[in-house]
Amino acid sequence: MFETVGVVGCGLMGAGIAEVCARAGRHVIVREVSEDLLRRGLERIDESMERGVARGKLTDADRKAARGRIRGTTALRELRAGEIVFEAIIEKMDDKKRLFAELDGICPAETVFASNTSSLSITEMASATKRAERFLGLHFFNPVPVMKPVEMIRGLRTAEETLTRCRAFCEALGKTVIACKDYPGFIVNLLLVPYLLDAVRALELGVASKEDIDAAVRLGLNHPMGPLTLLDFVGIDTTYYIAEAMYAEFKDARYAAPPLLRKMVLAGFHGRKTGRGFYEYPGAA
Ligand code: 3HC
Repeated sequence: MFETVGVVGCGLMGAGIAEVCARAGRHVIVREVSEDLLRRGLERIDESMERGVARGKLTDADRKAARGRIRGTTALRELRAGEIVFEAIIEKMDDKKRLFAELDGICPAETVFASNTSSLSITEMASATKRAERFLGLHFFNPVPVMKPVEMIRGLRTAEETLTRCRAFCEALGKTVIACKDYPGFIVNLLLVPYLLDAVRALELGVASKEDIDAAVRLGLNHPMGPLTLLDFVGIDTTYYIAEAMYAEFKDARYAAPPLLRKMVLAGFHGRKTGRGFYEYPGAA
């Protein structure tokens, strides 16, 4: 099922989705907007798969075969070959709707569209297409090859058959599917975002240093990463856009981005991927 997969966006999440699909034997066409971003995205996939080989999760022969199944492009029309198309672009509703409207004109009517949105309405995105029955949310977690869950979000018009097929597909990728209704933030970000924002507020208020806030959570709650490290890992910009979207929906101060987060977005301190967030990552940008 879904032997050929399209992925729009080869950032942190798009690269991860392309990788897990290729590792599960699918042919993948991944699109970025420029040659430079595409090259960086494909490098990200190469590095991740090499890490997988180094950790004994796949053989070198499987890595080569999987890589051979991934083709990069800057032309959106090439995604017409995909039986399912994943969207993993910036977390902004207008950009996503514009993309889906364009894809709707390019892809055959039977192609399934899946958004990897972290928080935005699937029903609203689907309204930009003529295939709301074959439109759903499939939200992966970073790092995609490592993290087990996929939140499967049903829009108001998503067909049962689309959910059944996509559940089987995600399971074939080795993922655990968690069904969820179309509600801002779904399950994980509904809980995670207020916690991350509170950590930034604690830092702003001078409750403790960033290192101590992270150490308290790592050691006191046994989380693999403290909240400020996790923010750098997920992306300061991505988290900011998710918080903005949730605030717009709920008008609840819990989801309002603290000024420090906004300033960091404006300054280009987007976390690990830009070499600087709350911490510095020499050589990462
Ligand atoms: N392919 C396959 N497996 C890989 C791999 C790859 N490319 N890279 C690493 N692994 C495996 C390793 O083999 C290891 O598996 P093992 O436990 O069976 O030996 C496991 O992944 C951990 O890898 P490492 O030993 O390299 O790294 P760490 O132990 O330092 O863990 C981490 C790294 C998994 C990132 C860990 O720090 C972690 O879990 N952090 C929290 C991540 C998190 O919370 N993610 C969710 C963010 S929220 C989100 O994404 C939603 C969005 O909408 C905001």
